[in-house]
Amino acid sequence: MKGIVLAGGAGSRLYPVTRVLSKQLLPVYDKPMIYYPLSVLMLAGLREVLIISTPHDLPRFEELLGSGERLGMRFAYLAQPEPKGIAQAFLLGAEFLGTSPVCLVLGDNVLHGSGLTGLLARCVTTVEHQGGAVIATYVVKDPERYGVVTFGRGGAVVGLEEKPARPRSNHAVVGLYFYDNEVISIAAGLTPSGRGELEITDVNRAYLQRGTLRVEHLGRGVAWLDTGTHETLLDASNFVQTIEQRQGLKIGCLEEIAFQRGYIDRNRLIELGKAMHANDYGRYLLELARTDGESAL
Ligand code: G1P
Repeated sequence: MKGIVLAGGAGSRLYPVTRVLSKQLLPVYDKPMIYYPLSVLMLAGLREVLIISTPHDLPRFEELLGSGERLGMRFAYLAQPEPKGIAQAFLLGAEFLGTSPVCLVLGDNVLHGSGLTGLLARCVTTVEHQGGAVIATYVVKDPERYGVVTFGRGGAVVGLEEKPARPRSNHAVVGLYFYDNEVISIAAGLTPSGRGELEITDVNRAYLQRGTLRVEHLGRGVAWLDTGTHETLLDASNFVQTIEQRQGLKIGCLEEIAFQRGYIDRNRLIELGKAMHANDYGRYLLELARTDGESAL
């Protein structure tokens, strides 16, 4: 399975912070936002990732992340000339994907919590072996801001709505989607919505109609943090700071995941740590190299 991080959009809700800088490059405490969704793909075991952003912002992502080789990953980059919806990612990324299934993660989605790695592995295996789609839901107080899943008797999914004025459940669709390769032709067959976008909710509805949509619920032990407003962006930073300071373990640390998964060796980790110029992040990496990350197990 290959991964796509969609990091486009004007980010106008965060103006003036995002006037000249992409939202997904803003810090969430001690690392750029895009580290978090990238870490999710790495925890899912994916090694090849396409990063899609605006023509203006794409060079910054390339500068930050490079070819991926430093992390034992392969990163590719592609510009989305105009924001035509999340589902456009599959059309833009068709060549990159080839015949591969895909995990798409939105570049502003921060996920952390108990059981997440196991859940990710399960989603990958399901789609790779059985095809179809897996989406994740999370209970929120304000479902009207998201895609919303409606359940029927026995918990079966009966409907999906994008930002409904009157949500029929409080189960929001998380910006993390697993699809078989059919997603490319499904996206190609979509018509733009009222807001002129190829909606990811329409893709999910197509799988629902085919009877191949599965839903994983992210439970109370998982945090799906919002980064869409100045207030929630600060909350997300505070959340990460609180957990990291309490445990001395980092959330969304790409270098750590690469080391623990054996994508990079100890010497590379030391190099990466030294490149941080003796700050806390660098010291963390050097300590990991010294202890083999034992405390994180
Ligand atoms: C998008 C999707 C929505 C999903 C959300 C998750 O909304 O359209 O279905 O619940 O991401 O972050 P947007 O962020 O474009 O408002």
